[in-house]
Amino acid sequence: MAFKTIIVEIDDHVALIKLNRPEALNALNQALLDELARAITEADRNEKVRCIVLTGSEKAFAAGADIKEMAEKTFVDAFSSDFFGPQTEVIERCRKPIIAAVAGYALGGGCELAMMCDFIIAADTAKFGQPEINLGVIAGIGGTQRLTRLVGKSKSMEMHLTGRFMDAEEAERSGLVSRVVPAKKLMDEAMAAAQKITEKSMLATMSAKEAINRSYETTLSEGLLHERRLFHALFATEDQKEGMSAFLEKREAQFRDK
Ligand code: HXC
Repeated sequence: MAFKTIIVEIDDHVALIKLNRPEALNALNQALLDELARAITEADRNEKVRCIVLTGSEKAFAAGADIKEMAEKTFVDAFSSDFFGPQTEVIERCRKPIIAAVAGYALGGGCELAMMCDFIIAADTAKFGQPEINLGVIAGIGGTQRLTRLVGKSKSMEMHLTGRFMDAEEAERSGLVSRVVPAKKLMDEAMAAAQKITEKSMLATMSAKEAINRSYETTLSEGLLHERRLFHALFATEDQKEGMSAFLEKREAQFRDK
């Protein structure tokens, strides 16, 4: 089925998902999040896809949840539909890597969506913020939790309590983004990173993602054990034999996800 609020292109094992509501700076409405959840589910299931890149436009990754759509919601509406819970859980459950390529505004739900991805590459034009406080609400899809883990309590508190934006340079310095690149090069850099990931063994890639994400959910000793067992398990794969033989034979490894 075709999408109306996003554009999906699959090329060379990378699914590029572009948020596409330019009239509203890619504000996240129900239709967009439903479509995004569907696209990510399909990409996760599609054997040809080995990495996902999520992006917006030059002006905005996403300027937050759609305020027009939210304005008249009641508590009953929000609670009964678990407002954006089901869609975001789909994104969080994706086992394949998702890179956020962020230019322009990533505000409110837009910043939260970028933080749901596995890492963020930012254009030098990127601006991050959690300005929900100006609307009489707070973040609702992970901002208070993920931003705090990424940049620490003090900065997270300041951003959520004052609504101030963080520019790309500060975002990199604070650990919110993995790196900043010139806006013109954003998509080339994000696609090159994705391409690099597609060349690895998916078994190792998914194991690394799983182990890193567990670190947010568990104690250090449990996390270390989980990592060690995954590391041990990878010795049962052909890709481990191939990767190590290729190194010793001084050639490129050809992984087969087996
Ligand atoms: C709906 C939005 C929108 C949004 C922008 N637009 N953000 N529509 N929801 N979040 C629309 C504007 O109404 C306008 O439409 C068009 O996009 C262009 O926006 P402008 O404001 O004219 O652009 P500009 O002056 O450049 O200002 C850009 C901006 C500003 C600084 C990003 O638009 C802004 O402050 N937006 C809201 C940011 C925000 O508060 N986000 C948090 C939302 S709450 P028209 O039709 O007038 O041209 C949230 C909760 C998350 O995210 C939890 C979810 C469960």
